[in-house]
Amino acid sequence: MKKVRVSVNNGYDILIEQGIIKNCGKYIKTVKPCKKVCLVSDTNVYPIYGKGVKASLESEGYEVFTFIFEAGESSKTTDTVIKIVEFMSENELTRNDLAVALGGGVCGDMCGFAAAIYLRGIDFVQLPTSLLAQVDSSVGGKTAVDLPLGKNLCGAFHQPCLVLIDSNTLDTLTPHFFSDGMAEAIKMGCIKSKTLFDKIEKNNAREIIDDIIYECVSLKAGVVERDEKEHGERALLNFGHTAGHAIEKLHNFTTISHGEAVGIGMVIVSKAGEENGLTPHGTADRIAAVLEKYNLPTDDENPLCDIITAMNADKKRTGSAIKFVFISEIGNGFINPIKNEDIPSFFGV
Ligand code: GLY
Repeated sequence: MKKVRVSVNNGYDILIEQGIIKNCGKYIKTVKPCKKVCLVSDTNVYPIYGKGVKASLESEGYEVFTFIFEAGESSKTTDTVIKIVEFMSENELTRNDLAVALGGGVCGDMCGFAAAIYLRGIDFVQLPTSLLAQVDSSVGGKTAVDLPLGKNLCGAFHQPCLVLIDSNTLDTLTPHFFSDGMAEAIKMGCIKSKTLFDKIEKNNAREIIDDIIYECVSLKAGVVERDEKEHGERALLNFGHTAGHAIEKLHNFTTISHGEAVGIGMVIVSKAGEENGLTPHGTADRIAAVLEKYNLPTDDENPLCDIITAMNADKKRTGSAIKFVFISEIGNGFINPIKNEDIPSFFGV
């Protein structure tokens, strides 16, 4: 078993082992020996893993109440989160009880947010079942739901008390969802570790996935420990995300996945970095080649000027400048704010 400690206030462990969720009750009991658990999962994941997880929790004496929502980003709303906290209240969970998120990023974000607000905060455990959640979103305590005006606009920082990562769950993911998570792993290599990037570039990541997950969460744990609330360094994790988010918006968050959009975003920003002397020439091509290796797109059907316009549209949230993340070389990201009025010329549109 691999173990990573996230040393924030009330620090927690991330345990990585194939098959671990079958024994999740045992590990959860060591950090949270309470009475009741609200198990939150979705209509895709629960039928595959729900029974085993529930049985493991019950064998440790927990009383388990299961909340299952319709799978997909469209469920990540204030409505669903209110239904979850009402469900917790109807089943009389106390402040000492526990929520457990069994699923991908949507499930973890939403269950974590429900845990953050129910009775002003109860503990929760992450059992991430998608690669994206295993390499990124289950770690670090960002929880949120979407609002009509955009993704993740309503949320809280609320750290889990344990994360159990079982890469066997990746066997039931479609190749498309595996690629989606690889985009975040490639991003981590770009901003923090040339060794990780090289490993992803040279190997078939699926064959060494526990190693890749371990490196991603170790790097992320370090970032979160140094900057839990994203006042500085944590913003590096947004490499490719500003343009990526604009691309997702142009696709109405439906016809492109988050990882696909982030991959294209990394190429766009690296090309602009090259043109403006911030990033060495050839970097964007190298990133694009790795994205292609994992069946991710490297450009979008929308013209660059539309992507830049979409990126620049929301001045209320970004203020007078956008903090872009560039890389000075593979493995080293840095933040460089660009004034709104300078953004089109910076990107050459
Ligand atoms: N997914 C980016 C972060 O956790 O900050």
